[in-house]
Amino acid sequence: MDYTMEQYRASARAIQDRLGDFVPRAAMVLGSGLGYLGDEVENAIAIDYKDIPHFKASTAPGHKGRLVFGMLEGQRVAVMQGRMHHYEGYSYEEVSYAVRVLRLLGCDTLIVTNAAGCVNTDWKAGDLMLITDQIKMFSESPLRGENLPEFGVRFPDASRLYTPRLQELARQTARERHIPLREGVYFYCYGPQYETPAEIRAVRLLGGDAVGMSTAPEVIAAAHCGMEVLGLTLLSNMAAGILDQPLSEQEVLDAAAAAREKFSGLVRACLNKM
Ligand code: HPA
Repeated sequence: MDYTMEQYRASARAIQDRLGDFVPRAAMVLGSGLGYLGDEVENAIAIDYKDIPHFKASTAPGHKGRLVFGMLEGQRVAVMQGRMHHYEGYSYEEVSYAVRVLRLLGCDTLIVTNAAGCVNTDWKAGDLMLITDQIKMFSESPLRGENLPEFGVRFPDASRLYTPRLQELARQTARERHIPLREGVYFYCYGPQYETPAEIRAVRLLGGDAVGMSTAPEVIAAAHCGMEVLGLTLLSNMAAGILDQPLSEQEVLDAAAAAREKFSGLVRACLNKM
């Protein structure tokens, strides 16, 4: 279905009624097991997705399903604790709905985080990666359907989805904090099954460094409506077929828990400098 401008506005109004005169600036989408950053927001106002008109529930493990507004590192933030995924049964339009609502509320920046499989064999599980670009060419666009010109143009440029200025800020921040930061291309696969070893070989040939089931749709929608985007990935596991062992959700959540200090430290430090 195509959402209408009225629906986006109704969601934004319902949230604004709860926020009073608070205007968020940076939207953050927190991935699997990384939602704890939302618990560190000061003067927090939390709103469950189910209490916002037209919002979908977030059913994935490790995803709380609420928006937390408040201050983090001196910035006015809107934190999505849990995102919607295509594999949960949602269309890409539904997956990226919240991002557009946050844009209407005043957010001009989107920070996306995720856990992903590491395709690049020079790297290892537990490494952090700055997303420099993405590949999502084998599934439809969140912008499919009637274009809403209030958000952006029909055929948006996608040559700089991840804002170069914010990439540089993240590089610098990581250097200062002595956090090793890989850089690469996020390859979107829609899951929910993890990839086959043959698929991972294909992803590598096509230029992917990390593989995951989220992020790419929201980033397309965010760039379309003029938001600056920063993407950071926790490489939670080596992608399928690289090691002689099966992949599991537990491995992903354990890696997220283990990387907690490093990952949240980097995200917070970047936010601080924005
Ligand atoms: N593949 C896809 N999505 C993922 C992976 C993976 O290996 N790890 C975490 N999310």
